[in-house]
Amino acid sequence: MAFVFSSSSSIPRVIHELDPSRSNSGVFMASALPAEQVDFPPCRLTGDSFIRSHLRKLSPYQPILPFEVLSTRLGRKPEDIIKLDANENPYGPPPEVSEALGAIKFPYVYPDPESRCLRAALAEDSGLESDYILAGCGADELIDLIMRCVLDPGDKIVDCPPTFTMYEFDAAVNGALVIKVLRQPDFSLDIPQIIEVVEKEKPKCIFLTSPNNPDGSIISDEDLLQILSLPVLVVLDEAYIEFSGLQSKMKWVKKHENLIVLRTFSKRAGKEFFLCLAIVLNNSEKK
Ligand SMILES: Cc1ncc(COP(=O)(O)O)c(C=O)c1O
Repeated sequence: MAFVFSSSSSIPRVIHELDPSRSNSGVFMASALPAEQVDFPPCRLTGDSFIRSHLRKLSPYQPILPFEVLSTRLGRKPEDIIKLDANENPYGPPPEVSEALGAIKFPYVYPDPESRCLRAALAEDSGLESDYILAGCGADELIDLIMRCVLDPGDKIVDCPPTFTMYEFDAAVNGALVIKVLRQPDFSLDIPQIIEVVEKEKPKCIFLTSPNNPDGSIISDEDLLQILSLPVLVVLDEAYIEFSGLQSKMKWVKKHENLIVLRTFSKRAGKEFFLCLAIVLNNSEKK
């Protein structure tokens, strides 16, 4: 890694950003000045030095443990364990899916980056044209992708806990600030508070989950319409919609340019492994 400094005045600032806590150890830098003329405390580069400072401060995300690890820890065979900690479908996919996966013709070449066949099938299934559909590797990937596309460092998002914690984590990774508008005691959204926060704080987006994780509560059409009327991008996470008996709001993206709907196969179809896909729908390109 090379560092180019145009003047000595910029050196102390850059070093401070690299690693303020290690200013007494060796220096590894390129400078136009001879080392003896450089008036800054030396610092030592460590692996951490390369990580963006806001990420260094982040508490680590606690991931779930896979079957292999649980099996060793508990001294039980994976088949004897029923995992309920990540809302995975414990039954797995139907046998036809495993068969189809085994029959994939060209597993050694990159798959279609635009997932044309899948999007066409999803369009047929949902009644929404494939132009509105984006496939990703799970809703988690798409949540991060949305944030990377939408948020500048320091931008704000609204989160409504208790809810899926990944919105808050991804916001931190993307250098965004999280404004929390707590749900009411019955887990419904605090709409007046959301409206006030959007007006005052001008967040870029709000993440809503319906049915909500962990309580299963549903956002009413009336509440959703009120939020959609605000100047904010609304990301509606419908990871559990198939368990609610309700219709997805996918088709609403045609009417509401500030709506993205997330869906996933990981809950409904037991395809967390390998075929973990989710869809984002938004009509901002359409008129
Ligand atoms: C509300 C919600 N959205 C998204 C996800 C992640 O979905 P995926 O498995 O498609 O990454 C979860 C996982 O538990 C979830 O609870």
